[in-house]
Amino acid sequence: MDPTFRAPRGLGGSLRPPSDKSITHRALMLAAVSSGQCRIAHPLATGDCVSTRACLESLGATFSDSPTGLETRGVGLQGLREPSRVLDAENSGTTTRLLCGLLAGQKHFTVLTGDASLTTRPMGRVVEPLRKMGASIQGREGGKYAPLCFLPGPGTLAPIEWMLPVPSAQVKSCLLFAGLRASGPTTIGGMTASRDHTERMLRHLGVTLDDHDGTLLIHPVKSLPGFDIDVPGDISSAAFFITAALVCGRELSIDGCGVNPTRSGFLEVARRMGALVTTRQERESLGEPAGTIAVSPGDLRGTTVTPAEVPDLIDEIPLLAVLGLFARGVTVVHGAEELRFKESDRLQMIAAMAESLGGRVELHEDGFSVEGPQVLRAGTVDPRGDHRIAMAAAVAGAGVRDGVKVRGFDCARVSYPDFVRDFISLGGEVA
Ligand code: S3P
Repeated sequence: MDPTFRAPRGLGGSLRPPSDKSITHRALMLAAVSSGQCRIAHPLATGDCVSTRACLESLGATFSDSPTGLETRGVGLQGLREPSRVLDAENSGTTTRLLCGLLAGQKHFTVLTGDASLTTRPMGRVVEPLRKMGASIQGREGGKYAPLCFLPGPGTLAPIEWMLPVPSAQVKSCLLFAGLRASGPTTIGGMTASRDHTERMLRHLGVTLDDHDGTLLIHPVKSLPGFDIDVPGDISSAAFFITAALVCGRELSIDGCGVNPTRSGFLEVARRMGALVTTRQERESLGEPAGTIAVSPGDLRGTTVTPAEVPDLIDEIPLLAVLGLFARGVTVVHGAEELRFKESDRLQMIAAMAESLGGRVELHEDGFSVEGPQVLRAGTVDPRGDHRIAMAAAVAGAGVRDGVKVRGFDCARVSYPDFVRDFISLGGEVA
């Protein structure tokens, strides 16, 4: 599917974004290893989260569909069983890295792999600390890449002190999951400032998790209780249409959206770039705040994003490049080298996307700068299977008179299955 995205009348109105991918992954995994009845309302039931569900089912979890989402009775922290086939995380780094924390040291043998993109993504960052905790893990190039193979272990792990060298919520969450089954408290220090969904959920489930100036100390538990969660909308998905509305100068209201501050950095930068953004928290579920975000356009101007801001907007950086192309002045992003290890080398892909539309984004080792406003022309973007690049290109189409064609747009389904429907319902055209 190679659709062309255009918005001759602009994009705006009101949107209910798809459910949060990060929160759904965690809810599925924690429900599977809980020791009680769990109800997950409004999970993201597509792409990456389907991969997580399928892997957990291969490990012995059983989910049943309910009118609002999914239900399961957890098998307990030691209750996962040996899968009879290789687990396939497909395109999902979060599935892979978080599952590693649940699989490490278990008494059974498991092999975990994924698609062509996933098997090039760095896994040493979880394998190394898990080995230090006593897990026996083999993998390609000495464990740097999937397929990863977990050899049978004693069921528990040794507590360690680990300094995170990169601000990765996936690595942090993997170690928090592993720490649940350690024989004593596990310390996670270093670059822990990243999305905190795992910390919020674990605390709500009664796990003792201390935070001393960013150094986390997790105490093991014998079991986790059952729980109910209502998954909020995904702010990273909403960010595509916030960008489109700002580029077109239209208003947008987003309902039922997650407003966790560790995910909201994009809103802060959008404000600095001239947008009027208000958020109103309306509810909370298992520690996750949700509410309404209202966006009004303003004259867009360039800004500088610092390394400290990057973890809270890591998935929205391609959109900052799109905004930068339409903003007056220079937009600079520093400290985003992690983007090279996402579903694609996203820094390269950002530059290639702009070039396909006659624009220019200058790459640096750790980010980029873009001087705007630039007049983009109609063109074809090849996101090479990266969902966030595909959707960033589509919303750039909202600001290009003859639109933007996106090759293989189907890859967007891993996080935003109804993107085309929403693009049209907000006033755009997809042909
Ligand atoms: C995620 C964390 C981020 C993010 C990814 C989802 C998560 O990755 O890019 O889309 O759910 O923990 P890193 O933690 O590796 O930066």
